Amino acid sequence: MKKRLFSGIQPSGELHIGNYLGAIQNWTRYLDDYECIYSIVDYHSLTIPYDHQAMPERILNLAMMLLACGLTPERCVLFRQSDVLEHTALSWILSCMTTINYLERMIQYKEKAEQHGAPNIGLFSYPILQSADILLYRAGTVPVGEDQLQHLELSRDVARKFNLRVESDYFPEPQALLTPARRVLGLDGKQKMSKSLGNHIALADDEATITQKMKRAVTDTRRMRRSDPGEPNDCNVFSWHGFFSSEAEREDIAPRCRSAEIGCMDCKKILIQNMNAQLEPIRERYAEWASKPAEVEEILHEGARKARTIAQETLREVHALLGLQHQY
Ligand code: AMP
Ligand code: TRP
Repeated sequence: MKKRLFSGIQPSGELHIGNYLGAIQNWTRYLDDYECIYSIVDYHSLTIPYDHQAMPERILNLAMMLLACGLTPERCVLFRQSDVLEHTALSWILSCMTTINYLERMIQYKEKAEQHGAPNIGLFSYPILQSADILLYRAGTVPVGEDQLQHLELSRDVARKFNLRVESDYFPEPQALLTPARRVLGLDGKQKMSKSLGNHIALADDEATITQKMKRAVTDTRRMRRSDPGEPNDCNVFSWHGFFSSEAEREDIAPRCRSAEIGCMDCKKILIQNMNAQLEPIRERYAEWASKPAEVEEILHEGARKARTIAQETLREVHALLGLQHQY
């Protein structure tokens, strides 16, 4: 039997290559070796202000992009979190096993509370819902970016508390599977790639847009003139080659950058070409899925049916362990 793996992503708008490299591409690596369950976590998106009219389209577009990246129904379960109400039921139970103190230490909460002001209870208990997402499927493995490590630590703590309370080892303690692309920097070469900073390349950008954006991508800042020698290890564009170019290409580029034989534009051109070769098939498949929204909806429904079967069984067992009854 394959081990079970769970991860989730919020429908927070247009995906960029940081999301792709840091999350989605990584998700596709486990499709053969794990039983993978992936969720579009729309309930998590309610924790900060959002446009409710745009939400249905955001969810559907995200589903289309996930499918285009290879997370197809033959290979994994893909579903929308709000279709499986057991997530919130388990979240309540787990919230009774989590201290306020612990939640107050969460970095993401502190950052977002500051950003948006007047934080709601949902934002505060966000990591509990995340723990419920994982534990509902008794998943022991969770691929995430490094920003989620603290939340996963909390999910282990919650699992331990529950197990202790009911004197069992019912829940596994979820372990993070860190992505190789833990923190992809943006075009500015300084900050994490993020849509809100506008330093991103969107996963759906066409070649012309990528080329346009790459012009302003910051390289080794000490290399002012074409004739200055560059240092690939201090260059964000070169680090992107690590995600899109072959090792042979990188070994070829590095010394030629150091000797100023090639300029930054030459190096960028190679990168654009390789980036495009990887992203073009995704864009094409995305366009295909986008032409059949009803089929995508049906995939989400079918995913929810499968997820619900597992979720209901867990909740039934959790209720029994806690001395509660379960009637459905
Ligand atoms: P967000 O859009 O920030 O909610 O992130 C969605 C997913 O993409 C999460 O799993 C993040 O860890 C990942 N992610 C977002 N931005 C980056 C980045 N710049 N580098 C690596 N991973 C990222
Ligand atoms: N909090 C995660 C993020 O911002 C998304 C998420 C929600 C998640 N539930 C999860 C990730 C469960 C892994 C497992 O990226």
